[in-house]
Amino acid sequence: MTKTKSVPDLLDPDKIKSNLKTKRIGKKVIVYASTASTNNVAAEYAKNNTNDGLVVLAEEQISGRGRGGNRWLSAKGDSILCSILLTQCKLNTELLPLTIATATAEAVGKCAKTEAKIKWPNDVILNNKKVAGILVESKKIVRHIAYVIGIGINCHQHKKDFPADLLKTATSIDIESGTFTDRISLTKRLLTSVDHWLATAENDEKKIVEHWQKLSTQLNHHIALVYNKKRFAGHCIGIDPQQGLVLQLDTGGIRMFHAAQTTIVREK
Ligand code: BTN
Repeated sequence: MTKTKSVPDLLDPDKIKSNLKTKRIGKKVIVYASTASTNNVAAEYAKNNTNDGLVVLAEEQISGRGRGGNRWLSAKGDSILCSILLTQCKLNTELLPLTIATATAEAVGKCAKTEAKIKWPNDVILNNKKVAGILVESKKIVRHIAYVIGIGINCHQHKKDFPADLLKTATSIDIESGTFTDRISLTKRLLTSVDHWLATAENDEKKIVEHWQKLSTQLNHHIALVYNKKRFAGHCIGIDPQQGLVLQLDTGGIRMFHAAQTTIVREK
């Protein structure tokens, strides 16, 4: 590795904004040394439309949260902990997380120099382990809905930093690339990628579905999931931009599963 944790690569908003060629995302970038959750901070800016594309980053979160009520833990300076505010968005609640997963996988893959995959709905995978997660939250503002897109990317964690139960399933870019991730350049790549894929999805949702098919770890595989507390198993045959994951069920028939109510589980 070229640097060690004793030389911290602090996130600097001016360096992140410098030469950032985005149309929508990152006109304003705020960095906190520590905050409860960057998603909470971004949500506070949601009432004002001029804050569309705002980016909130933190070196540390005290109450970082993940999907399904889980906590999202990271030691100070180890991750990209990022929230992006969209004060309006044309994409539906299935397509928006897929679009962000696509963008995050692209940024992570370029940085790690290894193809990053997507485990539906929005886990980003490097070499079969989770390296990034996405939590999209919405907030009703009088007559419209604002979205806060939370993205957590593991960068500088070593194997010893993960709790025993996560060691087999979680990783960091440093572990997989064998180098010290430049978090500023990764953040710039992430914002550029989110900007690009959001605009692409808003123009043509088929492009996201096509790209997801190339990156999916589950397409054409047998998977099991829990939907509204019931277990289902079958072959993943696709994704529908409105209805979610499409399974050819073992019990017969085809069924679609919305991301919000679904958890992928291990096969028995
Ligand atoms: C998941 O469970 O996979 C989603 C994790 C999302 C974590 C990010 S870190 C930045 C933002 N702030 C939060 O509290 N959560 C998201």
